[in-house]
Amino acid sequence: MSRAYGGDAGAVASADQLKAAMRRWATGVAVVTMRSESELRGVTVNSFAFVLLDPPLILVCLNRWVRTHHALLATRRFCVNLLSEDQRALSDRFTERRLVDDFSGINHQFSAGVAPILDAGLTWLDCKLVDTHAAGDYTIFIGLVLQAHIGGEGTPLLHQAGNYHTLADGDRTAGK
Ligand SMILES: Cc1cc2nc3c(=O)[nH]c(=O)nc-3n(C[C@H](O)[C@H](O)[C@H](O)COP(=O)(O)O)c2cc1C
Repeated sequence: MSRAYGGDAGAVASADQLKAAMRRWATGVAVVTMRSESELRGVTVNSFAFVLLDPPLILVCLNRWVRTHHALLATRRFCVNLLSEDQRALSDRFTERRLVDDFSGINHQFSAGVAPILDAGLTWLDCKLVDTHAAGDYTIFIGLVLQAHIGGEGTPLLHQAGNYHTLADGDRTAGK
């Protein structure tokens, strides 16, 4: 356990307990993209959360050891691409550790903040990094949303218990 937490807390949940509990939790899947110096980078996350409407804030948590952690601190501009159910391959691609994180073969454009936007996603948020909080091996990045793209039709890619899922047909309410 990180020394910053739990020092005086007494009994805390074991990793196994917490892991078992969190397997019940379902999330969407997003790719956080950025341009760091001349390189384009992306990382798959499910720690994305909406925080507040006014000011418009979101958060993502990144492990300190993923390469995009360093890149995000350096560039402070990023795009959160929310994936649609037919983008599992993109999710997998951005979990791979690449020496050079090239976007070759991946259709994309650029936001005003010059972060890459993945084509055919559900929607995207162009963000500026405004705050960070250390949490053990992770950093919580708080982003101010500069532009929220309103996507078209489409349903989200979901993740739960280590697997991808899609919404049941009766629950498809996107765009309504
Ligand atoms: C569905 C899913 C969600 C993930 N969510 C996160 C996350 O929220 N934060 C994180 O640091 N890593 C997350 N990961 C792991 C990273 O995608 C992976 O470790 C990363 O791409 C490592 O590559 P890099 O070091 O080259 O950046 C997730 C992986 C998957 C498959």
